[in-house]
Amino acid sequence: MKIACIGGGPAGLYFAISMKLRDPSHEIEVFERNAPGVTFGWGVVFSDLTVDNITRNDPASAKTINEELAHWDDIDVHFRGETITSGGHGFIGIGRKRLLEILQDRARALGVVLHFNAECDPTDSKWRDYDLVIASDGSNSRFRDAQPEAFGVDVDVRANKFVWLGTSKVFDAFTFAFEETEHGWIWAHAYRFAPDCSTFIVECSEETWRSFGFDRMSQDESIASCERLFARYLDGHSLQSNATHLVGSAAWLNFKRIKCERWSSGNVILLGDAAHTAHFSIGSGTKLALEDAIKLADLLNRKGLSLEAALDEYQAERSLEVLKLQNSARNSTEWFETLERYTHFEPLQFAYSLLTRSQRISHENLRLRDREWLETVERWFWKRATEGKSNKTAPPMFAPFKLREMEVMNRVTVSPMAMYSAVDGVPNDFHFVHYGERAIGGAGLVFTEMTCVSPEGRISPGCTGMWNGDHIAAWKRIVDFVHTQSKAKICLQLGHSGAKGSTKLGWEGNDVPLDDGNWPVMAASDVPWSPVNQVPRPMTRADMDTVRDQFVAAVRMGLEAGFDMVELHAAHGYLLAGFISPLQNKRTDEYGGSLENRLRFPLEVFAAMRAAWPKERPMSVRISATDWAGESGITPDEAVLIGEAFAQEGADLIDVSAGQTWAGQQPVYGRMFQTPFSDRIRNEGKLATMAVGNIYEPDHANSILAAGRADLVALARPHLVDPFWTLRAAAALDYREVAVPPQYLNGMAQLARNMKREAEAAAALRV
Ligand SMILES: Cc1cc2nc3c(=O)[nH]c(=O)nc-3n(C[C@H](O)[C@H](O)[C@H](O)COP(=O)(O)OP(=O)(O)OC[C@H]3O[C@@H](n4cnc5c(N)ncnc54)[C@H](O)[C@@H]3O)c2cc1C
Ligand SMILES: Cc1cc2nc3c(=O)[nH]c(=O)nc-3n(C[C@H](O)[C@H](O)[C@H](O)COP(=O)(O)O)c2cc1C
Repeated sequence: MKIACIGGGPAGLYFAISMKLRDPSHEIEVFERNAPGVTFGWGVVFSDLTVDNITRNDPASAKTINEELAHWDDIDVHFRGETITSGGHGFIGIGRKRLLEILQDRARALGVVLHFNAECDPTDSKWRDYDLVIASDGSNSRFRDAQPEAFGVDVDVRANKFVWLGTSKVFDAFTFAFEETEHGWIWAHAYRFAPDCSTFIVECSEETWRSFGFDRMSQDESIASCERLFARYLDGHSLQSNATHLVGSAAWLNFKRIKCERWSSGNVILLGDAAHTAHFSIGSGTKLALEDAIKLADLLNRKGLSLEAALDEYQAERSLEVLKLQNSARNSTEWFETLERYTHFEPLQFAYSLLTRSQRISHENLRLRDREWLETVERWFWKRATEGKSNKTAPPMFAPFKLREMEVMNRVTVSPMAMYSAVDGVPNDFHFVHYGERAIGGAGLVFTEMTCVSPEGRISPGCTGMWNGDHIAAWKRIVDFVHTQSKAKICLQLGHSGAKGSTKLGWEGNDVPLDDGNWPVMAASDVPWSPVNQVPRPMTRADMDTVRDQFVAAVRMGLEAGFDMVELHAAHGYLLAGFISPLQNKRTDEYGGSLENRLRFPLEVFAAMRAAWPKERPMSVRISATDWAGESGITPDEAVLIGEAFAQEGADLIDVSAGQTWAGQQPVYGRMFQTPFSDRIRNEGKLATMAVGNIYEPDHANSILAAGRADLVALARPHLVDPFWTLRAAAALDYREVAVPPQYLNGMAQLARNMKREAEAAAALRV
């Protein structure tokens, strides 16, 4: 094949090499706009896995690269006058310029023709003479941007400013240096990539950048300013730029996240940064470019595979890998963009939060990397959790947590889950066993399902209620069992179904109206949940008084039944959520319109409940932190305001759920997918939060808690199939002080022994 590679970066050069290795008869030319040896950037970081991949693909170039790689293990985080060092991170890096030289030499040796100082124009007719034109022309690809529709280009220009500099100061550890200045926070990412050279990337928010006046400085002035700011880390070494072609503030960039729906059009194929980018803070762009090149060369040379099929497979396989990395990169990018959310942390927790920012590195990964450091974090966590009383080195999930006078023995909670099994709202033997079993299963706090404050406030005929003496007696039996037979606390979740009421039992059809016996429903406005649901009656002020009083009566009954805590359910599209969400609330009175108005009734209900509930006992509120509807619904920004508003009325904990507030929601699922909302409310609003949503491993719980992304973690579905989730986690983590019912001690001891043996066998296999 006759092939033109546009751009002599890692992608273009490595693709040319990989094609020649597979079939020397290919005629390949690489066109690079710069002269040899002229490039932007300094060092790049690799992983061991990337080195394995390039070694398998081309042992010759990999050998030279390997000989020149710089290795380092530690990460230093400089923050508020402290340096936090953790080890075992195992980085490798190489200078970008040197990497390109190695690849250029190898390409020439294999017969690739290299043209330098060759600016390529996508409209030039000469490209038609090539079988394939590889657009390996980087993130600002002209060849991609010449056909934006054909490639389905999606560019997200990120908020922060950064400049990629170099220095002769040799950093022994991968270094993050955070400086607080009168203009805001500014920080550097620095690492050695050669015996005498380090990369030094400076980053800050656009606001800080402008306030410094970087937008008005020449490149030399910017560099001099950065040298002064980071003088204490540079030991007299200077900073240098090799973006000499860029003038003034242009050396400062905003990172562009690029995605493409299609990776080929006609004879043009996108490769590397032209097709996708991953934020520099996770250091994977070069790896992706090299791996794209290997995969594309493999497929184009596979016997019997048509060009069309090869290109389909190229995109299908590589885009999956890219998606995973872009997800991690997004988390990492956002962490730096919202840095000020975390600057109130103590240095140790700040460093932990930084290390786990992409969610690729978890608590247990950190233990494998540097056990001693992780144990320092655990001791710090326990000390704080116990106001200095405990110096224990144990997983954060087992640390106690206090809300008013109620102390939960650990941070795991059984999330509220409707069981649809009550008759006339009365919990029965099923509920007794269900809640009892989960309480002895080791969780610190057990929530009841949404318990309804009136018969017509039920979701289904099977919902539990709290509106008469039978309910009090039945709940009291359950609460007494929890208190006498376990160390768990129990929280009563109270709610009213609103527009989502009068529907079938969960397993007979979610949100589907009853076949017969429907009762009328009311809500903030006459907006039905879906076309098949009833049109609700908009509530009058008299209705509001009635419902508020029903909530208050239910709180008083909850007190009689002995509950430790009460939660108001203001999430998931039920009555109160229907007031808060602009998608359901279309009122024009003082209960509709602005967020302040929409919150008025839910806050009134909460305040009335709070007044009826003893001061020493805590209350929480469950909210949907987003409607998953973009700007037209509740946004995570507003969720902070909602959390703050309830806190002002006396909420001690914000239980942060999301969505289910309108039928057309577009949620983005994944591991711990709602935790970012909890993180935001906790650290921007400075409120105690509980995270929930696809948290299913002890490692998730510990990572969330230690990183300060929530104070409690709630698990729903995992507890459906495993009431003993917490005990099992304790066995797996070898934590001995968990509350095991005495009747079950033997089983617990055996489980712990077996799990320990299995973990040791797995570790031996890894070695
Ligand atoms: C600050 C920063 C730090 C980074 N750190 C890392 C890291 O640690 N590890 C890592 O793996 N990645 C890192 N990256 C990303 C990495 O640089 C890119 O992902 C990688 O270079 C992609 O390779 P590429 O060949 O696709 O594109 P590029 O390296 O951008 O190469 C494209 C080439 O095409 C040439 N070109 C462009 N247009 C034309 C034209 N019209 N005609 C002729 N030639 C043209 C350019 O001059 C360039 O040489 C970082 C990026 C930035 C911005
Ligand atoms: C069967 C079932 C019933 C639920 N009922 C309620 C409920 O009554 N009140 C509530 O706030 N959330 C309810 N939820 C939502 C859960 O509390 C939780 O937020 C959600 O399942 C996500 O957590 P998970 O990924 O751990 O399951 C229910 C979830 C399930 C699976």
